[in-house]
Formats: sequence, C-alpha cells, structure tokens
Amino acid sequence: MYYPDEIVEEVRSKNDIVDVVGRYVKLQKKGGSHFGLCPFHNEKSPSFSVSSSKQMYYCFGCGAGGNVFTFVMNYENYSFQEAIQMLAERAGVELPKIEYSEEAKKKESLRNLLLEVNKEAAKYFYYQLRAPQGAKGLEYFKERKLSDETMKNFGLGYSNVTSDDLVKYLKSKGYDDSIIIESGLATHDEKYGFHDKFWNRVMFPIQDVNHRVIGFGGRVMGDAKPKYLNSPETKIFDKSRNLYGLNFARSSRREYIILCEGYMDVIAMHQAGFNCAVASLGTAFTTGQANLLHRYAKEVILAYDSDGAGTNAALRAIKILKEVGLTGKVLNLKPYKDPDEFIKNLGTEAFEERIKNAENSFFFELRIMSEKYNLDDPESKTSFHREIAKKLCEFTEDVERDNYIEAVASKYSIGYENLRKLVLKIAAQSGNVEPAYRPKSTATKKNNSVDNALKPQRMFLTWLIEEPYLYPKIKKYVTVEDFTEEIYQKVAKMVFDGLEEAKLNPAAIISQFSDEEDQRKVAEIFNTKVGDLEGLQEKEKAFHDILYALKKSSYDYFSSKLGSDVTALNQVIQGKKALEEINKIHISMEET
Ligand code: UTP
Ligand code: MN
Repeated sequence: MYYPDEIVEEVRSKNDIVDVVGRYVKLQKKGGSHFGLCPFHNEKSPSFSVSSSKQMYYCFGCGAGGNVFTFVMNYENYSFQEAIQMLAERAGVELPKIEYSEEAKKKESLRNLLLEVNKEAAKYFYYQLRAPQGAKGLEYFKERKLSDETMKNFGLGYSNVTSDDLVKYLKSKGYDDSIIIESGLATHDEKYGFHDKFWNRVMFPIQDVNHRVIGFGGRVMGDAKPKYLNSPETKIFDKSRNLYGLNFARSSRREYIILCEGYMDVIAMHQAGFNCAVASLGTAFTTGQANLLHRYAKEVILAYDSDGAGTNAALRAIKILKEVGLTGKVLNLKPYKDPDEFIKNLGTEAFEERIKNAENSFFFELRIMSEKYNLDDPESKTSFHREIAKKLCEFTEDVERDNYIEAVASKYSIGYENLRKLVLKIAAQSGNVEPAYRPKSTATKKNNSVDNALKPQRMFLTWLIEEPYLYPKIKKYVTVEDFTEEIYQKVAKMVFDGLEEAKLNPAAIISQFSDEEDQRKVAEIFNTKVGDLEGLQEKEKAFHDILYALKKSSYDYFSSKLGSDVTALNQVIQGKKALEEINKIHISMEET
C-alpha cells in the first residue's frame, strides 16, 4: 500500500458507506442496517446489508463483504489506487504525491508506455480507414452494415498494404524499437528488418474496462486465412482477464450480460441497442473472465454460434460460469449462425424475443445430452434418465434440486417419484450429493469442522464490536491466542487494542488487509450474528455459550497439537482451567 494509513483512514471516514453504496444499489433501512439486492451475486430477495455504524457491507447470501474501498474495488473493478483516488476526489481530500520505489516506477512507466503506443496505433489505424487508402476497409464495414457512429464508437480502423508504415509512424513519434516490439505491433528479423504485425486488415481496437486500448484484432477483408489476427499477450494485454465490449457493457446496467464469440457479433448487438454484449478475445472463455463478469451482472446469456463448435464452447462456458456462481442461459440463434447474422436477417425485435426465451442452461445441457440417445429405445432411454439423475446430483441445495427434479420430470415425461428415487440412489452410490460448484466467495456453505470451530470466534468478535461495553467484563477470560487462525488472531488483536484505547474502528481494520479474500473474511468476522434473541436472560445465556464455545474451540485446537507443539501443553492446561471457570461465572449484560 502506497499511501500512509492516516490518509487511507481519512478518505475512508469521509466517504459514508451507505451514501457510496446507495449510488449503485437500492437500499432500504431495516433495523440498524440497510438492505438491498446483492450486486455481486444473483438474488431475488435482499441479503446484502450495509451498516452505517460499522461502515461495512456484508452479503449473507454470497459472503461478499468489506469496507467502502472493497466495495468500490469490486463494483468498479478498480485497483486500490484507483479506488482511493476516486473516493478522495469525491470527498475533497487531497492525496499526497506518492513516492514509488525505483522498480515500481519502471514497471509503471513500461505499462504507461505500452498504453501510449497502443493508443497511437489506434489513432493511426483510425485515420487510415478514413483516408483514401482506407476506402477498401470502409467499404468492407459498410457492406457489413455498420453505421458511421458504430465505427466511431468502437474506434474501428484499417491497416494499409504497406508492411512497415506503422513502425515508421511510431518511431517518428519517438518510441524506440524495443517498446514497439514489446507492444506486439511489430516484429523484427535480421533479413527483412521491421515488419508490422497487421497489414491489409480492418482493425478492431480492444479496450479494457476503462476504455484504454490494450491490443488489437485485425480481420482480412476476404476469405484468406487466418481470418483474424490478434495482438500477442503483453504486459498490458491479458487475454484471459479482459472482454471485448465490456467497457461499454459495464454501464449498460441491464440485469444480464450477453456473452458471444466474435468481435463483429458484439458490434452488431451494440448497434442494435444490446449494449450489454461482450466477447472473449480469440481464445476460449476463462474463469478470470467469468470473475470479471460477476462484478457487473447477475446472469449471463450465451449467444454462441449455433454450430457444433459453438455448442461445445457454450457447454464449457456454462461450467465456468457456474464455478464462479453465475447463472447462465442460452440463446437460440437458429436458423442463423451467430448474433450478427441473426440481427441482420431478423432484426432487433426478433432478437429481443429470443433473449426473453433464452433457455435455462441446465435444460440446454440436458437437451444436448439427449441427442446422444435414442429415446424410442427403452434401454437407451433408461441410460439417458440415469445420466439426468446423475446431473441432478450436482445441485447441493435440497429445494433447488427438488425443483429441478420436478421440472425435468415433467419436461421429459418421467414419473416424478421415480426420478427422485433414482437421484437419491445415485447420490447414495456416489457417496454423496456432489457439490457442483461452490462460488469462490461464498461463506455460507462450509459445514466442516474447521468452520464449526471458527464460528463462535466470529460470533464473539461481532458481538464485541456491536456491544463494546462487554469488553471489560470478559477481557480476563479471552486472549488473542484463543483464536485459531492467523487472520482471526490479527483481527482479534486489533479489536482488543481498539477497545483498550476506546477507539475501535471495524472498517479501518479492514483497510489493514490488502488481499480481497482477507477483506471478505474480516467482513464475515464482523457480521456473524447469533440470531434473534428475546429478553435479557436469553441474551446472557447466548453470550455465555459463545464465550464457552470459543474457549472450547481453542482448547480442542491445542489438544490436537499436543505432541507436535511444545507450547500446546501449557495452552491446554490453562484452557482446561479457563473452561471450568467460565462454567461457573455469570456475565451480566446490563450496561453499567
Ligand atoms: P468467427 O470465425 O465466428 O468470426 O470467430 P466472427 O466473429 O463471426 O467474424 P465474422 O463475422 O466472420 O467477421 C469468432 C472469434 O474468434 C476469434 C475472433 O475473436 C473472432 O471474433 N478468431 C476467429 C480468431 O482470433 N482468429 C481466427 O482466425 C478466427
Ligand atoms: Mn460472424
């Protein structure tokens, strides 16, 4: 982290989290918190909470959480530097000029140089398309029914037939050989010298989410091969973490994003008003891209080519979307090959209609599967039903699985009870109902013994930050060492220190962690409530139970390490004493 803690804290405290989040998410006050639909996962009833007193957000559905920095970074896909700059500006805080290390400076300036070179190249191609030598390119785009406005929006260009004029142009702008080569826009060999990577092609600049040109795709204007050339990966062009069109789609604020295969498909859809369309960059869809999409959409509609290759690519994409917790639907483009051709032939309204009727990805998978079976043959049909049942085991949640069993039974005319029994049988055979996926940032589904031990530790810390007056009453019973994970210990230490000095600040604690996953964990630690409690007695009992469970989890943890850890014995002996003592005490919850 480059900025001093005090500045980070000043920026944080001057940006009220309810105000900031409220600009993106519709919030409603409920009790001490504000609730809304979580922008980080797809949900129908609000489980996303923003606390004004804690200056934190936490989603009880998917476990996303953090402070105002975490939110802006996740929502806008900003780096910490970008987030603090935006929030400082918003609050009128002047940031100090930061002193980078030599190495950081070098890296930063290389990145900046590459961005400049790409921007210059984009300008050059753009100009070429509109110059006399670009007539061929312009004609090509016109033939493909692109309007001037569309060409302008996407910065489309043309690389002419001279094979080293871009190099010459870039050199004339003062860029040296090595940076031009590193940008991937040209190559050099002994015999022929410098060569532009792209020539005689129409050019598609590829932009990151912040509209910066990071690479290019170039298409031949006829049937030559390869149809498209793409910039190689460079320090600024990571094909697995960017998507074509996302710079526009991110602010379309539709409920869904349309994912397709081609640059031209994206452009055709945007031109037709579907400005939520994106495409991968000449490679297969990746988990990194799915995570990126997760920040902007709750649902992804696949508009892949309707041929066999497109279908297979769609099946793979569905798996990846599931892995990050996104729901997918599949668009039927038949009888056309891709969105571009579909829109050109049937128009916008027909496309809108297809979006409305997009197929649930699970049914899509089943339908593709069914094509391998002969459903007129009882043997083959039974095999198909077994495969269906196996797939249904992927749903870990009972309600969801049951809903799907019901829907599938009716769709494929299978007896509901029969299908249900088959699912249970297969689940039993394979040991369990296998989790199909577990969203990366989900805190709800861990049910293992490690989490059982951690839960009271979280409940305890949540309780303390919400009712700090309890601290003096219990501080002699609990130490930092009672917490059994490193991050819990760090957080506990900061909470205790804050309480000692009467300046506890949960949201500032989150700023102490730079890793996003750690920030999420801290938010979870501060948002684990016991549930509704009635009356003082019930409250006192619950708190006492948590304290006991916390000490017990620590005792169990150190007991398990006896023999391998010399300090464990001492912890165990003391832990046993502490447990006996806690059994006897009564902690009054009356504020005194
Ligand atoms: P398609 O072959 O489906 O092309 O490739 P398209 O997008 O429909 O393009 P048009 O309509 O024929 O102009 C889909 C995507 O795969 C990548 C490109 O990103 C393209 O947009 N691709 C394709 C390549 O990178 N290289 C190729 O040679 C072909
Ligand atoms: Mn096409």
